[in-house]
Amino acid sequence: MTRPEFLHACCEVLGAMHVLTAPEDMAPYLTDWRGRFTGSAAAVLRPADTLQVAAVVALCAEAKVPLVPQGGNTGLVLGSVPDLAGNAVVLSLKRMNRIRAIDLVNNTITVEAGSILEEVQNAASKADRLFPLSLAAEGSCTIGGNLATNAGGTAVLRYGSMRDLCLGLEVVTADGKVWDGLRGLRKDNTGYDLRNLFIGAEGTLGIITAAVLKLFPQPKAQVTALAGLNTPQDALRLLAMAQATCAAGLTGFELMSACSVALVARHFPQMRTGFQDAHAQYVLLEISDSESEAHATAMLEAVVEEAMEGAVLCDAVVASSIAQSRALWSLREHITLAQAAEGKHVKHDVSVPISSIAEFIGQTDALLQQAFPGCRMVTFGHLGDGNLHYNVSAPEAMADEAFIQHQEAINLIVHDSAVRFGGSISAEHGLGMLKRDEIRRYKSDVEMELMTAIKKALDPHQLMNPGKVL
Ligand code: FAD
Ligand code: MLT
Ligand code: ZN
Repeated sequence: MTRPEFLHACCEVLGAMHVLTAPEDMAPYLTDWRGRFTGSAAAVLRPADTLQVAAVVALCAEAKVPLVPQGGNTGLVLGSVPDLAGNAVVLSLKRMNRIRAIDLVNNTITVEAGSILEEVQNAASKADRLFPLSLAAEGSCTIGGNLATNAGGTAVLRYGSMRDLCLGLEVVTADGKVWDGLRGLRKDNTGYDLRNLFIGAEGTLGIITAAVLKLFPQPKAQVTALAGLNTPQDALRLLAMAQATCAAGLTGFELMSACSVALVARHFPQMRTGFQDAHAQYVLLEISDSESEAHATAMLEAVVEEAMEGAVLCDAVVASSIAQSRALWSLREHITLAQAAEGKHVKHDVSVPISSIAEFIGQTDALLQQAFPGCRMVTFGHLGDGNLHYNVSAPEAMADEAFIQHQEAINLIVHDSAVRFGGSISAEHGLGMLKRDEIRRYKSDVEMELMTAIKKALDPHQLMNPGKVL
């Protein structure tokens, strides 16, 4: 099949208006969220339902056209954009955004892959349920992208990551068949776990078209507090106190370095901690409670009091209104935007055992300062999950462009350090193109062979998101 024949066949399946080939129409689909890479594609295809996805994937298989699945294009590792070859098609799932069913007894919601995360949260909330995945990109990322990256976010501590929130999947395989695995079962031991192969595969094994997701009871109250502390060690002490008092009620525990908070204040001056003095570290805590707001507030105040008495905290505020709680979360959620506004920087998404986090920060900060004196540590993230966005910005006196020329050396220091502590170089963002080569340094031959064998079995012609992950 020639390229014009292929595109013509796609138009027959999707309708010509959903086969984009003009450069200006394709442009938004070709550049990643951080603006770090622009790829090239033969077309952008916009199917409306699973059968259309299956039909175009079958056409791709026949014509040997690689395809790049895309949801909200908010991924941070260059997974959702095509490479420079120009022979791939981008398969945008965004038109597939229907909520197919809600089962209030089974506590599940069945949604299409292009559904925006925030809309799924809202649908759950309207049905008096909670869909707990929460991240700053929730207004534009999609369930398909969340599943394909096994997204984490700010409530993993209590509810787990996307893998833990999914019971069933519908997938179009690399040869264009539909696997209907939309089972709402919490227990199912019938052989290999196909669902968990596709989750976290970043579109390299198949196209996720729909999913059955878990719902939870709405908490009666959610209460937020912000604490100012001196060290990451103190943050770990605070975590232990909060867990002892609140147990599973502790839903969020986010660390923000002074530098992260200062960057937000610089680019979004209305966002402040409200503290009189600056602190070296900040922790945002959230608890969810099934009793009442008064009960939740009392618990959080007890944690703060105990931590103050133990000299673990320097200052703290427990939000007294929903507006104040939103403002505190907004500060946290604007760090990524503030970093983007500040300029280019070197981003990391590492995890280490929670017990090693303080030591990891201490040792790695020292190694970086030795190699790049004055570099700014925009360290923040999901401390309660052992996951840090350990981002490094240029020293004030150095241009970003010059600094990011050292990206490889910086990655080596940070990733070697994480792995020395038994950690991972990608906790929640995935590998994409960005970390595809680097992962080989850290995974054993056996692990790489097993991953390659799975890829070959499910995608023998290497058409599904080529050049990503492997
Ligand atoms: P895309 O970016 O479109 O795609 C991501 C990957 O999934 C690509 O490899 C793509 O090919 C594949 N893919 C997409 N849809 C499908 C599908 N239907 N079938 C198969 N493969 C598919 N991530 C976190 O984990 N935690 C956070 O806290 C977090 N915060 C963020 C904050 C900001 C401001 C931004 C910009 C990003 C953040 N992210 C976070 C990263 C990103 O939002 C997540 O990775 C998200 O899950 C991506 O969803 P998406 O729909 O945008 O996917
Ligand atoms: C976050 O936790 O805010 C994100 O994962 C985004 C980021 O790393 O910048
Ligand atoms: Zn994160």
